[in-house]
Amino acid sequence: MKDIKTKIAKKLAGSIEQLSWTEIMDNLEYPPEPHMGDLALPCFKLSRVMRKSPMAIADSLVDSLDIDVVERCESKSGYLNIFINREYLVNNVLKTIVEKKEETGKSNEYAGKTVCLDYSAPNIAKPFHIGHLRSTVIGHAIRRLHEFRGYKCVGINHLGDWGTQFGKLIVAYKKWSSKKAVEEKGTEELVRIYVKFHEEAEKDPSLNDLARQWFARLENKDEDAMELWKWFKKISLIDIEKTYKVLDITFDSYAGESFYYDKTQPVVERLKERNLLIESDGAMIVNLEEYNMPPCLIVKSDGASLYASRDIAAAIYRKETYDFDKCIYVTATAQDLHFRQWFKVVELMGYEWAKNLIHVGFGMVSMGGAKLATREGNIVYLDDLFSEASKRVLDIINEKNPDMEDKEQKAQDIGVGAVVFSDLSNNRIKDIDFSWEEALNFDGSTGPYVQYTYARACSVLRKSELSEKDINMKDIKPEHMTNDDEFTLLKTLSLFNEKIDQALRDLEPSCISRYLIDVCMDFNKFYNAHSILGAEDNKKFRILLTAAVKYVLANGLFIIGLKRTERV
Ligand code: ARG
Repeated sequence: MKDIKTKIAKKLAGSIEQLSWTEIMDNLEYPPEPHMGDLALPCFKLSRVMRKSPMAIADSLVDSLDIDVVERCESKSGYLNIFINREYLVNNVLKTIVEKKEETGKSNEYAGKTVCLDYSAPNIAKPFHIGHLRSTVIGHAIRRLHEFRGYKCVGINHLGDWGTQFGKLIVAYKKWSSKKAVEEKGTEELVRIYVKFHEEAEKDPSLNDLARQWFARLENKDEDAMELWKWFKKISLIDIEKTYKVLDITFDSYAGESFYYDKTQPVVERLKERNLLIESDGAMIVNLEEYNMPPCLIVKSDGASLYASRDIAAAIYRKETYDFDKCIYVTATAQDLHFRQWFKVVELMGYEWAKNLIHVGFGMVSMGGAKLATREGNIVYLDDLFSEASKRVLDIINEKNPDMEDKEQKAQDIGVGAVVFSDLSNNRIKDIDFSWEEALNFDGSTGPYVQYTYARACSVLRKSELSEKDINMKDIKPEHMTNDDEFTLLKTLSLFNEKIDQALRDLEPSCISRYLIDVCMDFNKFYNAHSILGAEDNKKFRILLTAAVKYVLANGLFIIGLKRTERV
């Protein structure tokens, strides 16, 4: 629809000299009802600049669109309602999709540009829970959106693998665990002793001093401490990577916090040179009062680096290594202040690229109204969530289609798809009160609905004796589009590119998930009302229309990180 809109906006610009064609384009709307046209120009805002009533403006424009893309226009209550030429839609939209196939929705608009995406970033020796799932799936979708517009993407997993918690873990391990237990139970054992440490430290605060000593040994590269830390990290990563495998997500770099703990000295030097560093209670801070923010902590009183200084060192390293045009950080909005603070520090350090650091926040996940917290045990483990989801899908398959091939894998693809889709179906900023029922709901506007519709389109194409490849676009005539179901579906398909643009502009994957539901609803309506393979005169057209649905759904599913289930 983008090129249709462009043509219309350019033509209208000839009659509206007060606005540029791009401004007109921004004003064009998709009306809520078909009888209101396929596009509409509300003339209310124009009224002031054109010094005419909205009705008079719409009246004056009604005959101006004598171009091939437009069938007719009408002026109604201050709107210019525009009806698209159906012939044009068939010849252009359908043709473009069936020609572009797997490339549908892709462009090279930003070729040559690089974006670093910092997402997922779970904390070592802590469970991978639904809070980190959000960062993982939102970040991954944002990465795909950039790829679709030609960006070179560097996916970075800034692992939380450094900090005082490792001192605690070492103490806890030495007191309450064993090599055998950790090897057998993995992360679960590490979490158990971490929780126990906090319980015991309540009663005996000296444990905290001990933990601090061990962490100091770690920072000084003490061999015993390093060896344990490396081992804990290895054990945790085994579990973390299992999750990525299920989600089919990979990263280009796993340089996490530990990679930077001894690289913060240049940051300190530069801040000193610029007189930005001040001492406060033995620690080194940057005062941000002028910017209405609390100070940013750079060096602890014992000389150790901190979350913020490691982030600054990491940003500099990434700029030097990848020369990014943008660096995007996907974390909960709870970390908003942290990012605003250190972005400001980078700016004060004189790095002009500070403006290219972007924090993409998302809402908190709670459960039963309470915050998720490892220590209190209010947590949903991803492993449990994924296996429960897969099990429920498998039960349905066993009931409906017990002979399905490869059913365990399919049950997992669909079950995990349901969880991921439910995470991406609302605006990212919205808080989520997690409920098992909702995450595992397979009816209505859900991931399984999209995956199932995709499989349905694939199945129609498989069953057809006439392959999409054998159909020549030249044989498709506009009159083959015989009803509004086909027209509506084609119009919805034509929006894919704009939805990608919008999702990329707002860094909002839910634009795509919602759009996929629209495509599925339109396709299912068409499918239920009309025979595709039994069609008489327009079978070829309907097959190509189904193929176009397949390409759009395939790439849409790919963007939001759901498996494409060809057969279910
Ligand atoms: N590990 C952190 C957490 O779980 C997220 C890290 C995000 N990335 C960053 N560069 N700070 O909260």
